[in-house]
Amino acid sequence: MTNAAQFWDRIARSYARRPVQNAEAYRETLDATRAHLSPHDKVLEIGCGTGSTALILAEHVAQITATDISAEMIAIANEKSAPENVRFLQAGAEAKVEGDTPLDAVLAFNTLHILDDPEAVIGRVFQALKPGGVFISKSACLRDMNIFIRVMIRAMQMVGKAPAVSSFTSPELHAMFTRTGFEIVESRTFAGAGKLPFIVARRPA
Ligand SMILES: C[S@@+](CC[C@H](N)C(=O)[O-])C[C@H]1O[C@@H](n2cnc3c(N)ncnc32)[C@H](O)[C@@H]1O
Repeated sequence: MTNAAQFWDRIARSYARRPVQNAEAYRETLDATRAHLSPHDKVLEIGCGTGSTALILAEHVAQITATDISAEMIAIANEKSAPENVRFLQAGAEAKVEGDTPLDAVLAFNTLHILDDPEAVIGRVFQALKPGGVFISKSACLRDMNIFIRVMIRAMQMVGKAPAVSSFTSPELHAMFTRTGFEIVESRTFAGAGKLPFIVARRPA
């Protein structure tokens, strides 16, 4: 088991109890995501956590497979009542989800910055998408955050209260998408979440 899986397994139950930190930004994220989805879409979510977002978006798509590296997160997701077009699977973002490609859309919320190699995962997502398909993400750009937050994260990591993170700026994150071959069709931030760009990247048709 990876260190990331161990960390998220350990905190999964307390993560599930935590209220959404910025409800307004979450609502805006869902609205902006729905605008890019359609009822015939086959969708993959990576780093789905306890599955709440997949369950909310399910009625807008044909099928959504939501994956997470943490078995405990997936166990919590599976405890929720889900419609037939949703399935939860334990899988790292680095793994290929058999039988699901090509996809219309891939989602990754609050996840790219906790991957060891976000650009490699962006590349895998590109390959898994249909031409014209979209990768919709929202990620923390830790290198844009102030020094106090970064020191606090470091201190929390030292006592096992924060996961390993990949630190990048917003321009560096955008460059990862464009180097991979994506075109950025939307990039914005939401209320009180200025350092977490919401990015819609399209695989050219
Ligand atoms: C900050 S939580 C975000 C969960 C959810 N997307 C949300 O917005 O509430 C990050 C999630 O990514 C998962 N994760 C961490 N490393 C991962 C990896 N390499 N592959 C897939 N999921 C991973 C964790 O288990 C955790 O559930």
